[in-house]
Amino acid sequence: MARILLIVGGGIAAYKASELIRLFRKAGHAVTPVLTAGGAHFVTPMTLAALAESPVYTSLWDLKDESEMGHIQLSRAADIVLVCPATADLLAKMAAGVADDLATTLLLATDKPVVVAPAMNVRMWLHPATQRNVARLKADGVTVMDPDDGAMACGEFGPGRLPEPEDIFQQVVALVSVRPELVEGLSLATGSLALAGHHILITAGPTHEPIDPVRVIANRSSGKQGFAIAAAAANAGARVTLIAGPVALPTPGGVARIDVETAEQMAAAVEAALPADVAILVAAVADWKVAPSPVKLKKSAGPPALTFTANPDILATLAARPQRPRLLIGFAAETENLVANATAKRTAKGADWIVANDVSGDVMGGSHNQVHLITAAGDEAWEAGTKDAVAARLIDRIIQELA
Ligand code: CTP
Repeated sequence: MARILLIVGGGIAAYKASELIRLFRKAGHAVTPVLTAGGAHFVTPMTLAALAESPVYTSLWDLKDESEMGHIQLSRAADIVLVCPATADLLAKMAAGVADDLATTLLLATDKPVVVAPAMNVRMWLHPATQRNVARLKADGVTVMDPDDGAMACGEFGPGRLPEPEDIFQQVVALVSVRPELVEGLSLATGSLALAGHHILITAGPTHEPIDPVRVIANRSSGKQGFAIAAAAANAGARVTLIAGPVALPTPGGVARIDVETAEQMAAAVEAALPADVAILVAAVADWKVAPSPVKLKKSAGPPALTFTANPDILATLAARPQRPRLLIGFAAETENLVANATAKRTAKGADWIVANDVSGDVMGGSHNQVHLITAAGDEAWEAGTKDAVAARLIDRIIQELA
């Protein structure tokens, strides 16, 4: 059971917050609604209170509320904060750190993950000011969902529609599911169940390091190998948390997915997902980042001089933590001296196993892989196969190891 603080902004999509409350309540989660002054033009406190079976908070200056539950406490009592719908105005205030009403004060005071589901006119969404605010919020660690595309209430067409309530529900549940006590029945165990009762943490895909609001430093990782391992682990009955960089892949069944963009966000999501029995770090994490410009760099200013600083090494950090998973597995992407480099990486990073792949061909982005498994006992060359086959074999080995 998760406690969700739901901030309802002032837009025509506010009525969909009611549908969302129904979804959360049906799944056994608690919702505390906070209605902005704008939101109250579209939906009444009475509707939200009745559906949420909870008091609805509207004003910072309501002294009764303040004596019963201070705004700081209100923001901390939740497991997650959801802003739905998030208007252009709310996004701008959040990005600037403005706190001039109850909703924005809560957003500034909270220490919990924040998810925003934007809904606004297409021009307002595409406006550089809004895009800049969204980039800022993402860099601050806020999960900003992409609005849906389509016909809008105002008669225009394009991105800006509120994402489907079901999708918002899934995103919130995925983010809170890193705390297993919050979500019941999330492990949709299928298949052999040999990994039932085990929590497996997987990173996959590339990371994107922003240069400015539109440009990123990226790499060719598709996420296919990591997603295949997540699917195989879920099939074996494990509870799987998959932390994915920007990839275009569907979430395997029974897997709780958390989408991140940067290496720092991935490191934070890994941290939040602990403890885990096994961690398999498949992601091609960017080793370096730059301090992103808040505005688009103009071509007329000439080629920028980018100064790189190091990103955290997620694998090495995890290996050194007291909460180190019992079995810690890294990957090694090499273009030369595959086994020697991967063997050195195993020791240097403190991993139990390294899955080494030669990425000089089309392994990154492709559907096939040929790997070596490096353990303390030495090196095993596995025959080439699909990424699904490599995943199945790795999960098999993990089952043997844990037995
Ligand atoms: N890794 C990580 N955090 C980083 C970089 C890498 O957790 N900042 C993890 C990867 O997920 C993988 C392993 O470390 O499991 C090895 O990644 P790889 O890219 O092969 O090695 P690097 O550490 O980046 O070293 P190099 O680029 O010099 O080969």
